[in-house]
Amino acid sequence: MPLPNLSVNIAGLRLQNPVMPASGTFGFGEEYSRFFDLNLLGAIVVKAVTLKPAPGNPPPRLAETASGLLNSIGLQNPGLEVFIREKMPFLRRFKPPVIVNIAGKTLEEYVELAERLSEVEGVAALEVNISCPNVKEGGVAFGVDPKMAAGVITAVRRRTPLPIIAKLTPNVTDITEIARAAEDAGCDAVSLINTLQGMAIDVERRRPLLANVVGGLSGPAIKPVALYAVWRVARAVKIPVIGMGGIRTATDALEFMLAGARAVAVGTATFTRPTAMVEIIEGLREYLHRNNINDINELVGAIKV
Ligand SMILES: Cc1cc2nc3c(=O)[nH]c(=O)nc-3n(C[C@H](O)[C@H](O)[C@H](O)COP(=O)(O)O)c2cc1C
Repeated sequence: MPLPNLSVNIAGLRLQNPVMPASGTFGFGEEYSRFFDLNLLGAIVVKAVTLKPAPGNPPPRLAETASGLLNSIGLQNPGLEVFIREKMPFLRRFKPPVIVNIAGKTLEEYVELAERLSEVEGVAALEVNISCPNVKEGGVAFGVDPKMAAGVITAVRRRTPLPIIAKLTPNVTDITEIARAAEDAGCDAVSLINTLQGMAIDVERRRPLLANVVGGLSGPAIKPVALYAVWRVARAVKIPVIGMGGIRTATDALEFMLAGARAVAVGTATFTRPTAMVEIIEGLREYLHRNNINDINELVGAIKV
C-alpha cells in the first residue's frame, strides 16, 4: 500500500500534515527547535504579536487545576518590530508555513498589524486573535459579538492579501453565530477554541491563585467542550476549521478531525511533552495505515451519528 496522504489544505495553504502548535504555547519556535525538527510540523503558529511590546500580567500567571491549566499571561510579547527583526529570520529557515497570531486593542491596531505583516517575507497567514480572555482592552471583546467580529475581519480583509484565520472564543452563548459572521466577513478559516474563562482560590490565604484573579483554562479538562464546539462550527460554515483544546494524543487529534476539523493544534500538552506534536503526526500515519485509509481528508467530519 502506498504511504497514506497526510497533507491538508487550509485557507489556501498546503500543509504537509494537519498538526500545528496552538498560538502562545510555542513561543516563536526557538525553544522547541532544541527538542525536534520544526520541519516535521504541518505549520508553525507563533505567539500573539501586538503593535507595541507587552509585558503581560503580573505573576503568578499559571495555576494547575484538575486535568487543566489556568493561565493569565496577558499576551506578553516583544512587539511587532522585534518580531519582524529578530524572530522572523529564524522562522523563515523552516519549510512549514508560518502563521502569525495578531492581537489588537483597537480595530486600527489589527489593521496596522495585518498591513505591516503582509510585507514581511515568510509570513504565510494571519490568525486574528479575537479571543484572548486575559487582556483588559480588545482581545475577547471583539470575539463575543458577531458584529464586532465581522468588523475586525472585514477591516483586516481589505488591507491584506494573506489568508486570514479567525481564532474564536468559547466564552459565548453560540459560537456558530460568531463563526458565521467571520466567514461572511471574508475569513478563510476559523480556529477554535481559545481558553475557557476560569479561576482558582488558595483557601489558606483566601486569595486567588492568579494575580489577575481570572485566567483561561486549557488542557484535557476542556477537550469535550472544544470537540463539541468544533463539531457545531464545522457544520455551520464552509471554510475549514482548525480544532484545538486538550489534544494530547493522535486519538485526540482524530476525534477532532472526525468532528469536522481539517487540522488540529496542540498547546498545553507540549509543556509536559515537548515532542507531543511529532508523536501525534506519527500516530495519525499509523492509524491511516492500520485502517487502510489513503487520505486523511477522508476522515474530516466523518463521524457517524
Ligand atoms: C500559556 C498559554 C498562552 C496562550 N497564548 C495565546 C496567544 O497568544 N494567542 C492565542 O490565540 N491563544 C493563546 N492561547 C490559547 C491556545 O492557543 C489554545 O487555544 C488553548 O490553550 C487550547 O488548547 P490546549 O488545550 O491544547 O492548550 C494560550 C494558551 C496558553 C495555555
